[in-house]
Amino acid sequence: MKIYISSEDIQKKVKSIANRINRDYKGKIPIFIGVLNGAFVFLSDLIRYIKIDCEIDFLKLSSYGDRKISTGNIKMLKELNCEVKGRDIIVVEDIIDSGLSIKFMKTLIENQKPKSLKIAALLLKKDISNLDFKIDYLGFTIENKFVVGYGLDYAQKYRNLKAIYVL
Ligand code: IMP
Ligand code: MG
Repeated sequence: MKIYISSEDIQKKVKSIANRINRDYKGKIPIFIGVLNGAFVFLSDLIRYIKIDCEIDFLKLSSYGDRKISTGNIKMLKELNCEVKGRDIIVVEDIIDSGLSIKFMKTLIENQKPKSLKIAALLLKKDISNLDFKIDYLGFTIENKFVVGYGLDYAQKYRNLKAIYVL
């Protein structure tokens, strides 16, 4: 495994995203929706830099199984427990690869009529994600490599690593 993004660089970036959110949502109470399992580390670091009031919820999707390539068949494994209608929502994703998961979630949440919806993603694979909307808060654009660590797994392993590695 080769180091790809150091723990220090990740922390700097997470803090700068949090600062932007603190400014953009001043006087509001957004709900952060973390996408399990991968986003739990990013979300937990992010919210500790958040100074405004906020709420947290999670949903869980599955599409990869133990493979490195998306099956394109997205299943909802845990639904949201919060009321989205009329609220300011920030979806928090670990990584956007094909873009299928984020598109699925965007549609799902938009159907529940939030007041606003923004997306925060730590990583975006630039060459393969084919998105027709922008990522509001983006950490790093990366090459088309399979990465692990900082919440990201391969076959459920390596989520505990502090930095991000190429497998
Ligand atoms: P997408 O639907 O293809 O955009 O895939 C998004 C999901 O696949 C992410 O939330 C991750 O859980 C997983 N994923 C995509 N690329 C990687 C990677 O390089 N390492 C680990 N997990 C990945
Ligand atoms: Mg995953």
